[in-house]
Amino acid sequence: MDLGLRGKKAIVTGATKGIGRAIVELLAGEGVDVALCSRTQEEVDATVQALKRQGVNACGEAVNVRDGDAYKAWLERAVAALGGCDIFVPNVSAGGGFDSEKNWTRNFEVDVMHTVRGCETLMPHLEKSGAGSIVIIASTNALETFGVPQAFNAMKAALITYSKQLAQHVGKKGVRVNTVSPGPIYFDGGSWELIKGTMPKLYDYALRQIPCGRMGTPEEVARVVAFVASPAGSLMTGSNVVADNGFTKRVQF
Ligand SMILES: NC(=O)c1ccc[n+]([C@@H]2O[C@H](COP(=O)([O-])OP(=O)(O)OC[C@H]3O[C@@H](n4cnc5c(N)ncnc54)[C@H](OP(=O)(O)O)[C@@H]3O)[C@@H](O)[C@H]2O)c1
Repeated sequence: MDLGLRGKKAIVTGATKGIGRAIVELLAGEGVDVALCSRTQEEVDATVQALKRQGVNACGEAVNVRDGDAYKAWLERAVAALGGCDIFVPNVSAGGGFDSEKNWTRNFEVDVMHTVRGCETLMPHLEKSGAGSIVIIASTNALETFGVPQAFNAMKAALITYSKQLAQHVGKKGVRVNTVSPGPIYFDGGSWELIKGTMPKLYDYALRQIPCGRMGTPEEVARVVAFVASPAGSLMTGSNVVADNGFTKRVQF
């Protein structure tokens, strides 16, 4: 199947590791020009070089998305460098953590506000695209009770509601908006490797919830994101796509 991605231009936040890295690698392989950020310059440079080796235009900067002004300025520079924007994937999260006011503020500013600021800043460019598509990375933690009460779960839920409403609002302008909610995704250096080492009971519990007995990979999530983002996913807007290997148990009607 031709996804229709060749020649498109994508901006992905937090794309030097894990799911974000797999998304930019896959998009570049499909002929998409990519702009990315993370907080670590050397890792941004290494990722940009790797993408360029796939023959696409790639650029990136070290930006902390929690700094709203710096982040919005980078998004405008990214659009200028790419010559437009067809796809936006806000992927950065402040991650989970036991509840505290600090976590609530951090997850609101990072998970929610970097997504909202990104969508608002890029909307005029996505409208010009004719095939504009936003894919917000949420989590199954927003959908079913998991672990302890934590800001991460509630802020991811906020993103799913925001995505649905934004989809209704901008559909007439030709922009689609969806979320992808991964279940546990394992990779070296990722949160589940950390949990395996520090909280083995939680790791084993999560593994037991997955019918085939293995966690997902960043590449498997990236394939879902690429389809939803692509012109081939043209019928999808306002959807929350669960990609979790059967981890969640609710029935979706
Ligand atoms: N892994 C899972 O099991 C899982 C499951 C469900 C949903 N998700 C979601 O998937 C997304 C990606 O998670 P992940 O586990 O693949 O990766 P991750 O370990 O959260 O890292 C993601 C990337 O974001 C960058 N980053 C972190 N904070 C940043 C900030 N404030 N500003 C700019 N860049 C920042 C990191 O680089 P630097 O640290 O160098 O900045 C890295 O490139 C997140 O939204 C996460 O909630 C993950």
